[in-house]
Amino acid sequence: MENNSGKKRPVITFTMYMPYMVSDLENLVDAEGNKLKTGSVVALCRCGKSKHKPYCDGTHGTDGINGEKEEGRKKDKVISYKGEEITIHDNRGVCSHDGACWRNLPTVFNKSMKFKWIDPDGDSVKKIVETIELCPSGALSYSIGGTKCQDLLREPQIKVARDGPLEITGFIGLRDDQDSKPQSKEHYTLCRCGASKNKPFCDGSHKKAGFSDDE
Ligand code: SF4
Ligand code: FES
Repeated sequence: MENNSGKKRPVITFTMYMPYMVSDLENLVDAEGNKLKTGSVVALCRCGKSKHKPYCDGTHGTDGINGEKEEGRKKDKVISYKGEEITIHDNRGVCSHDGACWRNLPTVFNKSMKFKWIDPDGDSVKKIVETIELCPSGALSYSIGGTKCQDLLREPQIKVARDGPLEITGFIGLRDDQDSKPQSKEHYTLCRCGASKNKPFCDGSHKKAGFSDDE
């Protein structure tokens, strides 16, 4: 399929037991935005054990990949927090826990609150929207005047977060044998450490697992 600029839209294809096979990707970048080598098809590691990250080096051939979802993962459920001017929607089940929301706007996103951790009246609508647009996983979205906003208009790109997931933007297609559907078709985060309970999506487990790009 082609995008608006007439280029083929990249697609990520895989089964539960194989790496991410990405086709037609022009923009693969590291955490600092430096371009990484890519091609008409590139295989990216999802078991976390490649010695040539972010690329697959075939290690899964001996150690295996288990792409199944696991018991005990956070519920895939959207909760809405209604404010005077904006309603914030949140799906804890797909959060990659990079902290962009609570670091940027702690008066709205207060992670020390166990219940009602989001206050939609805690800052200006402008700042809330700017912060939600930083959310890489698609966990956060919002509605204003009954119109839901989730997807942005960006060029297709895969960013390799330092010691973390693949951050996908720009409507890159996702096709797997579990019929996985990201919360936002425009942006989502894919596990590349092998420890997520919500594969193929990142659930923040890379921190507890001590996943490191240097290993
Ligand atoms: S993924 Fe989104 S909701 Fe989760 S911590 Fe980051 S910005 Fe917040
Ligand atoms: S990269 Fe985040 S859980 Fe695997």
